[in-house]
Amino acid sequence: MTVEEAIALVEHVIEQGQLNKVQALVLREAWQGKSYLEIAVAAGYDPGYIKDTGSKLWQRLSEVYGVKITKLNFQRVLKQIAYQTPANLPANQWVKPRADWGEAIDVSTFYGRAQELTMLQDWIVQDRCRLVTLLGMGGMGKTSLSVKLAEEVQSEFTSLIWRSLRDAPPIDELLPTLIQALSQQQDAELPTSVGGKLSRLIELLKQFRCLIVLDNFETVLQSGKRAGIYRDGYEMYGELLKRVGEIAHQSCLVLTSREKPQEVGMMEEDQTIKLWEFTPHPSPLG
Ligand SMILES: Nc1ncnc2c1ncn2[C@@H]1O[C@H](COP(=O)(O)OP(=O)(O)OP(=O)(O)O)[C@@H](O)[C@H]1O
Ligand SMILES: [Mg+2]
Repeated sequence: MTVEEAIALVEHVIEQGQLNKVQALVLREAWQGKSYLEIAVAAGYDPGYIKDTGSKLWQRLSEVYGVKITKLNFQRVLKQIAYQTPANLPANQWVKPRADWGEAIDVSTFYGRAQELTMLQDWIVQDRCRLVTLLGMGGMGKTSLSVKLAEEVQSEFTSLIWRSLRDAPPIDELLPTLIQALSQQQDAELPTSVGGKLSRLIELLKQFRCLIVLDNFETVLQSGKRAGIYRDGYEMYGELLKRVGEIAHQSCLVLTSREKPQEVGMMEEDQTIKLWEFTPHPSPLG
């Protein structure tokens, strides 16, 4: 969740419908962890006035949401609220959180991989990577890790979709699923061309902070020596990776694959494109 989404969420529930300039300033700066004094000094306000504005805002939000909200916990509480489906408020009052896990496996018995998880989370949350690939041979734990990772970072996102490409869906079938899952309102009419659908998806990735996980990406690639090349008819998956990697947006696409897609190789220099490779355990026979 970004601070702008938090502001939108708050503005949906306060009666004046909009935060005033000072309230928005306090919310934005407090989101960054600034003290009232720091906020006041930086913006040239009286510290008492800033503190008072903050206290009243948390008080108002506490009343609206029925939980105690303070400067210390407001970020966590707003994220929690955004990710719950609120039973007591009309749907149009929310920046709707969405999580579509598809056929993601249960990872409640997941063990280990703490270091990898921390590193991958940093790539997604701190470094704001746009494309993260988990590469490894069959059975190494790519699917499990991708689900665990998505669970850990989901509170950072407005919406999430996890899909397996096991059955090699044509991209023209996958894109509408992604678009519907990630858009905050139903897209009644989608562009007919694949390129048009791709553009619509990229718009959403700019507009909201979305997490897409595509498992088994190797199914759209040719197996054999022409590594990283697409199967006939699946070339637009390459275009998807290229656009997600190259265009500025606030979302993240995580892939798992047995083979490295060529775009991932080509864009490796880019700071926001990362690859993590499972290293096989050394064979006991040497
Ligand atoms: N960290 C883990 N903790 C517990 N079980 C794990 C872990 N990682 C993997 N497994 C188990 O190992 C098996 C293989 O893992 P997984 O299916 O994630 O591998 P994969 O790399 O996705 O394989 P494939 O390439 O065939 O899709 C599964 O049964 C999974 O539950
Ligand atoms: Mg798998």
